Amino acid sequence: MDVVFVEDYEAMSRRAAEIVAGQIRQKPDSVLGLATGSTPLGLYHLLCRWYAAGRLDFSAVTTFNLDEYIGLSPTHPQSYHAFMQKHLFSKVNLCPVRCFLPDGMAGDVLAEAGRYDARIEAAGGIDLQVLGIGRNGHIGFNEPDDHFAVRTHRAYLSDDTIKANARFFPRLADVPREAISVGMGAIMKAQRVVLLASGPDKAEAVHRAVCGVVTPRVPASILQLHRAATVLVDADAAALVPEKWRHAGRIHIG
Ligand code: GLP
Repeated sequence: MDVVFVEDYEAMSRRAAEIVAGQIRQKPDSVLGLATGSTPLGLYHLLCRWYAAGRLDFSAVTTFNLDEYIGLSPTHPQSYHAFMQKHLFSKVNLCPVRCFLPDGMAGDVLAEAGRYDARIEAAGGIDLQVLGIGRNGHIGFNEPDDHFAVRTHRAYLSDDTIKANARFFPRLADVPREAISVGMGAIMKAQRVVLLASGPDKAEAVHRAVCGVVTPRVPASILQLHRAATVLVDADAAALVPEKWRHAGRIHIG
């Protein structure tokens, strides 16, 4: 795991966008794993700008999002389908038939989860996985647990995650309690992973994920074992990482 310290949200977004753009230029038919949440908004904004400026071509790219709420249709404004449509898909030349998210309306969640894993495998796996991190260390909707879920699965959102996501819904009661989430198998098999973390809310999670033991109680900690994981942290999110870690060799100041 490489931990790259950058100054602020803007620098984090730019660094992430350079990594994604480099991936697409190097392999135009890349398979990208994508995340939702506030954190990657700056990254998506830059990718859209670079596309509009003729600097990027998404026509051969395939995308797989990490997760979707169970019970929200793609047209629901808070669905992750709608989020991706708004912030990326509608603004670049991604081919709609190659943009995948789990179907939150599937009658049989288990069957949908199996189909989603099969689609990722049929695409050859993920080349570059973009991740955010929850305040409790979750990635996708892989919540703290006593084991790592390997495959795509039905995820039960923790109280902390429900509270954190309530800002997007009219009332706390409206926040879905369940989601379909990609598991650690697809994430750990990705050729490269980039996790973005910004702001003081994420400091505790970053500290535990980067400096702590590898445990399903802190799902992002599994990335310590990934052969090509980069954690891009801004100064606020890195606040609890001890100074000596910044000179540990595998950690870079951006
Ligand atoms: C949700 C998503 C995660 C995301 C997390 C953090 O739970 N399922 O993929 O990383 O929120 O979101 P934010 O970036 O808004 O803090």
